[in-house]
Amino acid sequence: MKLPKTAKIHEVGPRDGLQNEKAPVSTTDKIALVNALAQAGLTSIEYGSFVSPKWVPQMADSDEVGRLITRLPGISYQALVMNMKGYERAKATGMDSVNIVTGVSETFNRKNMNAGVDESLENYRPIIAQARQDGIQITAYVSTAFGCPYEGEILFANVLEVSRKFLTMGADEVILSDTIGCAHPKQVSELLAMHLEHIPVDKLGVHFHDTRGLALANVLAALQLGVNRFDGSVGGMGGCPFAPGAQGNVCTEDLVFMLEEMGVETGVNVPALIEVSRTVEGLLGRALPGHIKSAKHKPSYLERK
Ligand code: COA
Ligand code: ZN
Repeated sequence: MKLPKTAKIHEVGPRDGLQNEKAPVSTTDKIALVNALAQAGLTSIEYGSFVSPKWVPQMADSDEVGRLITRLPGISYQALVMNMKGYERAKATGMDSVNIVTGVSETFNRKNMNAGVDESLENYRPIIAQARQDGIQITAYVSTAFGCPYEGEILFANVLEVSRKFLTMGADEVILSDTIGCAHPKQVSELLAMHLEHIPVDKLGVHFHDTRGLALANVLAALQLGVNRFDGSVGGMGGCPFAPGAQGNVCTEDLVFMLEEMGVETGVNVPALIEVSRTVEGLLGRALPGHIKSAKHKPSYLERK
């Protein structure tokens, strides 16, 4: 099987994970979580989102989290924003990369950010220009790319149109997101193949949720096309408050385990990540869905090292 030699893992647990948790997690615990993820070898971490606290109260303390985390060299600390107010707040915390998001589905977009698809893209224009000026990297998320909780099926052509618009507007990379976890490997393969006819592979990534248990299968489908930039959430926590029924993201330690076992290097330390996952279970007071932390045997790639 021909696979990329390395993969880049972006950790979204402190944002996509915690934004959906009912139990409050203290700012101190969030800061400790981000720091522990960095210690486990993750080089790209989303520490929060700078949206309206009325819409997502769980992320209201992202300013403090961003200011107080320990910045390690070589790590990209990233934040999600949806408007200029959020961009300015996030910039004040010293983010390295700004993540912006637009759904392909008109209905989802209105429910998630109170704007239509084209309107939200236009709203990002000044943010992209400002980030370019500030030397901040721009990652654009195309959500509901594989299906919408309100509109159902999403046309491939519409996904590609949003992806290309983002890149034309100046985004550095595009992440196709399976917001509700409805994608399957054949669909992933076909949508990515269509994108790769127009977009270089190093500008493409994927964000999967594991609602139906297919997230790792979808990762493999992407890898086989050379796409090697994946989002994950420690323990597999996550979901979107505006996408009913969405379960957690693909579990980062399971994702890293699979990649490393197949010889795709990530630089992430699985045992350290399992410890982080257990700490998060303690914070949330519930078991998280990831598998590898319950396995009794050491991953064989670690035996080989
Ligand atoms: N930070 C803090 N407050 C903000 C804000 C930001 N980035 N953006 C807006 N607000 C506040 C405004 O000040 C205003 O407050 P007020 O009622 O006290 O005057 C209120 O929120 C509404 O602002 P408005 O500009 O009218 O926004 P909106 O109601 O049209 O909502 C968003 C637009 C983007 C702010 C909102 O949809 C949102 O926060 N969505 C988040 C969705 C999300 O995070 N989803 C999960 C990740 S994909
Ligand atoms: Zn998500």
